[in-house]
Amino acid sequence: MTSPCPPAALPTVSAPSARTPAGLVGNTPLIWVGEPFTGPGHGFWAKLEGANPGGIKDRTALHMVGEARRRGELRGGAPIVESTSGTLGLGLALAGITYGHPVRVVTDPGMEPMMRELLTAYGAEVHLVDAPHPVGGWQQARRERVAELLAAGPGAWCPDQYHNPDNVSAYRPLAHELVTQLGRIDALVVSVGTGGHSAGVGSVLREFFPRLRIVGVDTTGSTIFGQPAAPRLMRGLGSSIHPGNVAYDLFDEVHWVAAPEAVWAARRLARCHYATGGWSVGAVALTARWLAATMPAESRIAAIFPDGPQRYTGTVFSDAYCREHGLLTTAPPSAPQEIADTTERIVTSWTRCTTVTDPLGRSAVPAGAAPHAAVVAP
Ligand SMILES: Cc1ncc(COP(=O)(O)O)c(C=O)c1O
Repeated sequence: MTSPCPPAALPTVSAPSARTPAGLVGNTPLIWVGEPFTGPGHGFWAKLEGANPGGIKDRTALHMVGEARRRGELRGGAPIVESTSGTLGLGLALAGITYGHPVRVVTDPGMEPMMRELLTAYGAEVHLVDAPHPVGGWQQARRERVAELLAAGPGAWCPDQYHNPDNVSAYRPLAHELVTQLGRIDALVVSVGTGGHSAGVGSVLREFFPRLRIVGVDTTGSTIFGQPAAPRLMRGLGSSIHPGNVAYDLFDEVHWVAAPEAVWAARRLARCHYATGGWSVGAVALTARWLAATMPAESRIAAIFPDGPQRYTGTVFSDAYCREHGLLTTAPPSAPQEIADTTERIVTSWTRCTTVTDPLGRSAVPAGAAPHAAVVAP
């Protein structure tokens, strides 16, 4: 008996299909964010990186691992060891499954319990450090544990996302997607943690659009742009070290956003546009909203949303957590405060600076061209 014929006219489907989960990474959607989050007549385009299987870091995890294998730095079946606050861990778990490597992620108590459980479900080993480093904070404590795990495992490889140039070049496709989706881009709003996606996307977009305005978004208490380290609730963006991947020369301005302001924006987005995320999405959206209000109405603004909201139900979207940490405040001011120099004073709420320099005075390295820095155990 022959099988029945399919109906003559099937509706066209544009959703991607893939034979492996890695095949679903990239080609993420864009959504227009306008009224009521913004004022009438203006808005911005949000690139929803939460539509990747894990988040924005799927792109870099697959790329860093693939390149290390190609160069012979990571041999078949050798362990991958990395420090992460979460999103890269999900990406590495995906890369481990894709290429057949055990994955060991080092994190601290700030990682949401559901993230730890999810990483374990994806087959990653989660190593928790229990005390911050006296100077370098949790991040330095995590890096030291990574060094111990590398020393213990012959052939173990660390992508070193903070200094690995593959963490920058991994984002070239994201920039090309934006060019294809938007045609012309006048401004890019992007959060900065390791500096990877801002450097990768920003450098490619500048080649296409030399007058592009690139706006970096950091958290208060982060050292990246020259402020002193202070305790930080926000994760993903910000740092207590000076990552080598930050392309300081690309930024026209930096905005520091405080946790209550990011919470306000993430919650408001959820309520009126559904598409939202956590700390970095809130901070980016707040900044993009201001930019849309201050640039000409016809400007095309792209804002990168690194992940979605699911991971933040116990923090950004938990009334109990937000009350406990004093995060449920009224709407932030409609514009940031200004400082002329990133070291003018310690900023504790939304503040902008249009002079961006490397606080360590390092000379600019073309994005993606830095000497390779990933670490392999002997
Ligand atoms: C949720 C989230 N937002 C923003 C960032 C910052 O991205 P990048 O490390 O590319 O600067 C990260 C990095 O881990 C992240 O996980």
